[in-house]
Amino acid sequence: MGVFIITLAAGDGTRMKSDTPKPLHEIAGKTILDHSLSCFEEFKIEKKILVASENLVRKDPSLLDKFDVCIQEKKLGTGHAVLQAEKFLQDIKENDLIIVNYGDTPFISKDVIFRVLNQLNNYSDLVVLGFETNDISQKYGRLITNENELIEIIEYKDASEEIRSKKLCNSGIMSFRGKLFPFLNLIKNINKSSEYYLTDLVKIAKENQFKTSFVICEENEVIGINSRYELSKAENLYQEKLRKKHMENGVTLLNPNSVYFSHDTEIENDVKIEENVHFGLNVKIKSNTIIKAFSYLEGCEIFENCIVGPFARIRPNSNIQKGAHIGNFVEIKNSEIKDLSKINHLSYIGDSKIGNNSNIGAGVVTCNYDGFKKNTTTIGNYVFIGSNSSLIAPVSILDNSIIAAGSTITKDVEENSIAISRVEQKNIQDGAKKYKIKKQTIKKPDTKK
Ligand code: UD1
Ligand code: MG
Repeated sequence: MGVFIITLAAGDGTRMKSDTPKPLHEIAGKTILDHSLSCFEEFKIEKKILVASENLVRKDPSLLDKFDVCIQEKKLGTGHAVLQAEKFLQDIKENDLIIVNYGDTPFISKDVIFRVLNQLNNYSDLVVLGFETNDISQKYGRLITNENELIEIIEYKDASEEIRSKKLCNSGIMSFRGKLFPFLNLIKNINKSSEYYLTDLVKIAKENQFKTSFVICEENEVIGINSRYELSKAENLYQEKLRKKHMENGVTLLNPNSVYFSHDTEIENDVKIEENVHFGLNVKIKSNTIIKAFSYLEGCEIFENCIVGPFARIRPNSNIQKGAHIGNFVEIKNSEIKDLSKINHLSYIGDSKIGNNSNIGAGVVTCNYDGFKKNTTTIGNYVFIGSNSSLIAPVSILDNSIIAAGSTITKDVEENSIAISRVEQKNIQDGAKKYKIKKQTIKKPDTKK
């Protein structure tokens, strides 16, 4: 028995006031659409069908690789939208399971999906996921039930005051057997919105002697996103979940509400994170490391026992190995820093490889870009780079060498050597005194005339 998902995402999302279609807006660095499908990750799925607008596919052509996509040209309602999937369901069997979800409802859990499919498998031909709302002014469709049976769904617009005062609402998730799919053709658009409502399938199924029922979940699992405000509320909710998850895994957050995580941030136990730290996509941190306040990390791996920040910026493709220190106002990009090396103050390290136990002084810059292409800087083990040096890449500085402070290094440096490149210092005796006297003898212009 196969499971087929039909995700509805053709709506315009006009309330987002955005050129980006609503399903492609992100929560913790992952699209709302991907969030809405993550609850299916552990199920064996026969086909994932996406009902999309042309604009959605134009903005993200990779959807064509991930889904069987059908374009709904006119938005005639959710019932009409599901029917668009027909061409991908030619081989569907009577007892196969179809599950319809929305591409703007990000937080449904796999546990809820399991309960819906389980109920469908054992007791029903159609199951709707409902929830009890705390706020009856919400314009959800209302489930009309009789004990465990679902009789029909009445849309808010079409409901009487009595029906609107009922708390049991439709989440939008509906699951039914393959044999019910042809009955979608019986849905009419005679209602307040002149739309083909998917929800009418319940009544039609009942009239045709199919078993219809419902499953209930928490309201905060089925929140939909329609505006930037709702997006920010969803982001807050999800961040709270991520913070809790990391703390439960043994990570200390000094001021949890000020730390931003991406959905894929991986942090081992006994890591300490100070306030106002941002984790962009694809960051991994190993145990006993400290990330100090106001640091910004993305696309990097930080190994055990490191100290990063405060005010550090670690950019993609960077790898900071055991016990290394990255201090304040240091930017690292596409670089490998090996064990116990230190870059503690005001530096830019880009496209570089630094060995172990090396010390990079304050204000050192790897000049990786020549205006045309990026070049590599290689620094060996136990190297000392004096403060305010510029390393003009491509350049290699081998093990145990020293670069004198203030040098501009354009040539490779051998092992155990010292490289120095600065203008020789000249001290002029009484020069300062003479200079000051000279300045004081210059008359100021007379401004009183
Ligand atoms: C729908 C349900 C309502 C439920 C609510 C939960 C119907 C008729 N009503 O109402 O009972 O309480 O969701 O949030 O189903 N879409 C298309 N094509 C269309 C119309 C919609 O793809 O022609 C997509 C939208 O992009 C969206 C989803 O279907 O992802 C739901 O559509 P929406 O218009 O938001 O339905 P509601 O009025 O909220
Ligand atoms: Mg809606």
